[in-house]
Amino acid sequence: MKPFSQASENNRPFIEDILRRVFSKTTRILEIGSGTGQHAVHFSSALPHLVWQTSDLAENHEGINQWVQECGGDNLYAPVTLDVTQSPWPVSSVDGIYTANTAHIMPWQAVVALFSNLKTVLEAGGVMVMYGPFNYGGEFTSDSNRNFEQWLKARAAHQGIRDIENIIAEAEKAGLSLIEDNEMPANNRLLVFKKL
Ligand SMILES: C[S@@+](CC[C@H](N)C(=O)[O-])C[C@H]1O[C@@H](n2cnc3c(N)ncnc32)[C@H](O)[C@@H]1O
Repeated sequence: MKPFSQASENNRPFIEDILRRVFSKTTRILEIGSGTGQHAVHFSSALPHLVWQTSDLAENHEGINQWVQECGGDNLYAPVTLDVTQSPWPVSSVDGIYTANTAHIMPWQAVVALFSNLKTVLEAGGVMVMYGPFNYGGEFTSDSNRNFEQWLKARAAHQGIRDIENIIAEAEKAGLSLIEDNEMPANNRLLVFKKL
């Protein structure tokens, strides 16, 4: 049985609408933290001009491989082992990076490493998309995000919804500028960065 995330099924049409626009001139995507692989299968099929490289910690590869083998097209690549804290990353240069629901799962120091290391693989002019829940000025944007934070902390103290200001600061250190902050259903955001 393939791993399944209902949230991935629910959010993908809204994310696809934006990826179709912001990745319109992009050719090669590295996805960080592919999870089940459902987003990779859907977006690589919906946007066939992209070559989509999945990646994740090794523990998730079996599930991603099931999705890739059963549902993927020629433009969807089997996962590479990529822990954002380990450098160098096992990918050559790309002009697009996509990551969803990862910043609140990995420790903050790993988020810092994500931005620090991605600058070595993202080409100048490249686009990075980061989807998930974020706080503004240290405040939750909804009660459901506040409850989600409590759930995360009960599971693992290092997890938590990040402040968008801190995300932008790390992105800027990596030479990325925030060009869009899109409101999404279920109190999520879709951030678009461009490498100068
Ligand atoms: C909540 S899942 C999100 C999966 C998928 N992107 C989605 O939106 O359904 C978080 C993902 O982050 C990955 N992750 C956690 N720490 C990581 C790290 N240090 N390097 C790379 N990926 C990491 C996990 O393995 C997992 O696949």
